Amino acid sequence: MSPKHTARAQPPSPDGAADARIERAQNDSTVLPIDAESADRLSDQGLRLELVDTSDAAAFSAWLQAENRGFHLPRAAARAIDEQLQTGYRRTTGVWDATAADAAGPVATIACWPTPLTVPGERTVPSWAISAVTVAPTHRRRGIARQLIEAELRTAKALGIPVAILTVSEATIYSRYGFAPTATVTDLTIDTRRVTWTGPTASGRLHLVPMEQLKTDGRELLERVRLRAPGEIQLDEYLWQRLLGLVADDDDEAKHLRAVRYDDAEGQPQGFAIYRIKDGANFSSHVLEVKYLVAVTDDAHSGIWRYLLEMDLVATVTAPMQPIDDPIFWQISDVRGLSTTGHRDHLWARILDPKAALEGRSYAAPGRIVLDVSDPLGYADALILVEIDADGTAVVSTLDGEAPDDAAAIAITVNELGALFLGGVSARTLVRAGRITELRPGSADAVDRSFRSLVAPWLSVWF
Ligand SMILES: CC(C)(COP(=O)(O)OP(=O)(O)OC[C@H]1O[C@@H](n2cnc3c(N)ncnc32)[C@H](O)[C@@H]1OP(=O)(O)O)[C@@H](O)C(=O)NCCC(=O)NCCS
Repeated sequence: MSPKHTARAQPPSPDGAADARIERAQNDSTVLPIDAESADRLSDQGLRLELVDTSDAAAFSAWLQAENRGFHLPRAAARAIDEQLQTGYRRTTGVWDATAADAAGPVATIACWPTPLTVPGERTVPSWAISAVTVAPTHRRRGIARQLIEAELRTAKALGIPVAILTVSEATIYSRYGFAPTATVTDLTIDTRRVTWTGPTASGRLHLVPMEQLKTDGRELLERVRLRAPGEIQLDEYLWQRLLGLVADDDDEAKHLRAVRYDDAEGQPQGFAIYRIKDGANFSSHVLEVKYLVAVTDDAHSGIWRYLLEMDLVATVTAPMQPIDDPIFWQISDVRGLSTTGHRDHLWARILDPKAALEGRSYAAPGRIVLDVSDPLGYADALILVEIDADGTAVVSTLDGEAPDDAAAIAITVNELGALFLGGVSARTLVRAGRITELRPGSADAVDRSFRSLVAPWLSVWF
């Protein structure tokens, strides 16, 4: 690691119980050697698996261009490369083919980093965010992606991180690696000519603010809401600036973005929205697209939503990727003026260490549950007893003998454990779907009583 590398901007320091482990992983993840198992398998195909020195601008630039190509994005401009160099703390890996015409550019990419993941009980566990998974079209379906992903899962396990997470381009890719959808989003379209605001009247006021100002004010608000919904992660500076349209990739979009901040009656900022107004059927029927909305208080939520719905010259408000339990459904005069045009998987989770993952969250009800967890990749195979006390705290131990008489018991694969982890999916539904087996009758309901989250799991961003 070069001195320049150590000086690179790190994401803001994490919080709570996950602190020390994430900080250690942040320090270790970029220097931990490449996974030998995957390196050997790729080497058998004449390919080289290597970490990118992200302090080397030329090497990082070649990697980034390969990533952009993989996602069918335009070539990155010099400014975009500089900005992304901030993400140098990510473990940035590539695969090279010495026989390719452009041997300096990788034929496959992946980037991973540790981040706190919010879990039920407004707590966090360390998670391993996986992103930038691409394989060049010339090298597809030779098992390269499998080697990259398995390498990073083993790396996360070696760092002691209990869960890996990702957002997916296609829902057909990641189940084979033990991932399952764990948090959902919904896309809202609201006909503002049809609905009037029926929610509470907010007591504060709205301010139109420049993005540069929101860059500081908004960051703090973001931190204040991060623990609200299981599934949220801590945004690094790059992801945050991307939301604000302040990075080069979003230059066109940035021209159209507006920001409004909501301050409470005492003048304290309590929320903001970033939105864009697009052409509609005619000049009096523009479409307002909500890009990001943060409300620390219900009062701020009401103030901001009412502002958006009552915008002049706008006939439609769209709000992609909203939580499925948002109060907005109950704050408009005509519920059919709001349609949900998408309700889909968003965050996927892969449990690597069932004990640490399950002890990291809290539970809605006490209980004793035996989980017989099977994992085709072998990282999370376990026969465990989860004992949850009256406070919702769990102690997880390996079950040596018989399951206690009063315990519920289910057999579950690591995928379904990931689905249940944040409490957004019902065990009863998974039993009915044939995805979980009850080893004792009634066990799914016992799992649901403890595991279900009162707040619907949600992740507000792509990464
Ligand atoms: C998706 C992608 C990374 C796969 O790379 P790859 O090297 O061809 O994948 P592999 O050869 O390692 O395939 C591993 C397994 O995934 C399957 N698979 C790969 N791509 C798939 C896809 N798009 N849909 C469904 N299954 C896929 C393969 O059939 C194989 O299955 P098996 O192990 O059961 O035989 C590559 O096609 C790509 O870069 N796509 C565009 C970018 C993208 O979508 N990335 C994912 C970001 S979330």
